[in-house]
Parts: sequence; C-alpha cells; structure tokens
Amino acid sequence: MSLPFHRLADIGPVYGQRVLVRVDFNVPIDPATGEISDDSRIQGSLPTLDKLLAQGARVIAMSHRGRPKGPGPENSLAPVVAYLRAHRPYPVYFAGEARSEEAARAVSSLQPGELLVLENLRFDPGESANDPELAKRLASFADLYVNDAFGTSHRQHASIVGVPQYLPAFAGELMAEELDHLDQVLARPARPYWAIIGGAKVSDKVKLLSRLLELVDGIIIGGGMANTFLAAQGHFMGASLVEEPVMPVARALLAQARERGIAMVLPTDVLVAREFRADAPYRVAPATDIHAGEMALDIGPATIDAIIEALEPAQTVLWNGPMGVFEFDAFAQGTIKVAQALAALNVSVVVGGGDSVAAVGKAGVKDRMTHISTGGGATLRYLEGEELPGIRALRQRVVG
Ligand code: 3PG
Repeated sequence: MSLPFHRLADIGPVYGQRVLVRVDFNVPIDPATGEISDDSRIQGSLPTLDKLLAQGARVIAMSHRGRPKGPGPENSLAPVVAYLRAHRPYPVYFAGEARSEEAARAVSSLQPGELLVLENLRFDPGESANDPELAKRLASFADLYVNDAFGTSHRQHASIVGVPQYLPAFAGELMAEELDHLDQVLARPARPYWAIIGGAKVSDKVKLLSRLLELVDGIIIGGGMANTFLAAQGHFMGASLVEEPVMPVARALLAQARERGIAMVLPTDVLVAREFRADAPYRVAPATDIHAGEMALDIGPATIDAIIEALEPAQTVLWNGPMGVFEFDAFAQGTIKVAQALAALNVSVVVGGGDSVAAVGKAGVKDRMTHISTGGGATLRYLEGEELPGIRALRQRVVG
C-alpha cells in the first residue's frame, strides 16, 4: 500500500548530504553486565542507516533512552554506540547533547559514509516538551530528516513532530515496514482472523479490544486481564489481580462479542499459587474453583488445548500480551505453548510489541513470526486506530 508520506525510496541522491535520522535506540541494558539484552530495535534501524551510509550520506542518528530526569551515565547511548562500532563496518562517532558545541563540531566534521550518534535526546527537557528551539537546532544539523522511530511516534516530542516542520521529511525502512504489517492486520487480514490479547490489565487494552471486536472473527483472552473477565462472569478469583472498576466494561465487551457472533475464548483452568514468587508451589484449578488466597498466574493445560484448537483454522493472528507471569519459568508454559502453536501454524502472525516480544523470544520462535513490532505503546495506539503524531507530522509535509 502506498503510504501517505514520502518513503526512503523517494529521498533521491544523498551523497554528501546530511541526513538526520530519528531512531528508537531505547533498548534494555542488563544492569549486571552492562550488555544490551535485546538488540531488536538497533537491528531494526540498520536497514535505513546502512542504506543511507552506503550511498555516501553523512548520517546523524538521534534517539532517547529511558525516561531520565536529567543527564546521567545510566541512560547514556554509549552502550549503543559501542554496539554499532562492534557490528558495523563504517566509522561511528558519538557526540554530546544536541545543544552542545561538541555536537555542532562533530556534525560539521562528519564525512560522507560516516555515522554520528547524538547523546540521549531526553537529557534535554526540550525534547519531551517539544521545544521549537531544540527542534530548530536539530534541524540545523541536516539537509534531510528521516523518522525511523516507529516505537516513539506516539510521542509529541521535538525530534518526532518538531524537526519535520523544518526539513524535507521521509519515513525510514523500519517505519514503513511496521506500518505495512500493522495495516495488513487492520485492513486486509486473511480470514479467519484471531487476536490473542494478554497482559496484566484490561484497563490498558479496553480501546484495543473494542476496536478488535470490529475486525476479528475471534478473540482469546489470557494473562492477568482474563481474571477481570472471569470475575465479570461471576467467578470467584481469590487473591488474583482483578480490576473491579473495569468489570462493567469487561461485561460490555463480552456482550458485544456475543451480539456480533465473535468467539471469545477465556481460560477454563488456571495455575494458582498463594504467593507471587518464581518458586511458589502451585496447582491447576478450574476457573470455577479458585480458593480464597489463591491467585491465577498462568493459563492451565485445558485452556492451552482450547486455544490451540481455536487457532487451528486461523489465517491471520494478532498477538499482544503474555498469557501469564512468563518471567517466572513455572508460569511461562501458557505463553510458551501458545507461541509454539503460532509458530507451527504457518500463517500470518503479527506480534504487537512490548512483553509479547520478550515472550516470543523466550519461546525461541522469534524467526517464525511474520512480523514482530518494535513498538510498545506506539503499536497499541496504532492498532487502536489512532493516527500517531509522528506519522501525522510526516503526512503534513506531503499535503501541507
Ligand atoms: C518505548 O519503549 O515504547 C519507546 O521507546 C517510547 O518510550 P517512552 O514510552 O518512554 O516514550
């Protein structure tokens, strides 16, 4: 599908041009080793960076990392720079914050085919405040702007919505790929189309569920949020996490699904424990027989079988959120078995960001998914039907 903004392919000759690329290098770093524990976002940005650099552009990459209150080594982009130096053939320089003299000097001495990474944009409060002076400063570094930070495009920040007001703007390869895949499941899914929605809270996913009820043929609900649905159906959930204020919404969603003839699969059995601990003793309990003090921490074996059976005819699956507390091995089976079942299906499977990505990684089936989104909040907002501010900013460069 043609996107309502310019892609990288439209950028023209870039040899010698300064290209400012907003990437999402917000990667997790293991505090014990200092190593990047998931490099998907860096890997995701390489097609754009490599392509521009191979064509002789002078590339300035900018990103945030974490939500720092101010400058500090714990949120520096230094580990990402070290990673790039170790994995890429081109020179990678690291400069200070955007408003520093050091950054300006590094930009002016950058040569064709060289990459410069600016320090964490959020060290400057102007980034999150969308300060036009910061946006102008960043824009002054370059001739062209590329937004490849799909994962941050739901933020109204200077590098996302400010800079494209001052430079010709293009969507990077990762941005375009993300949108192509997400648009596929939103607009042109092969049917039957099933969604698997998990995670801790229903309140985070109400909009998503309402939207999906207009799109899918069936929804599987797992994870902590299933507790609220089960409670809404009148089940006693013991000490399980239940969002009581959201129970009427859960009831309304169940009624909507019924009216529209959309299958809704809820757990019929769960693993329950009395403590929230990796090594807590547990038992398999029918959803109708949870005792006082017990909390549901994973879906049970009968539910796993029912999910696998429900998914059998599916041609498209969208997955967002784990089925249980998958960080604890004892309560990861539901998530892992569902991931493995999806891998075996050989149909279009789009995994929507955040914890689901880690879950697919834990199940060892990352390579078997059609698309794994690099966005967390951005993916959710996009699937809910929101036009992301970063995408609007690119579009406005075309129409306005
Ligand atoms: C993310 O991790 O979802 C993106 O990098 C955006 O980060 P933020 O939620 O801190 O804005």
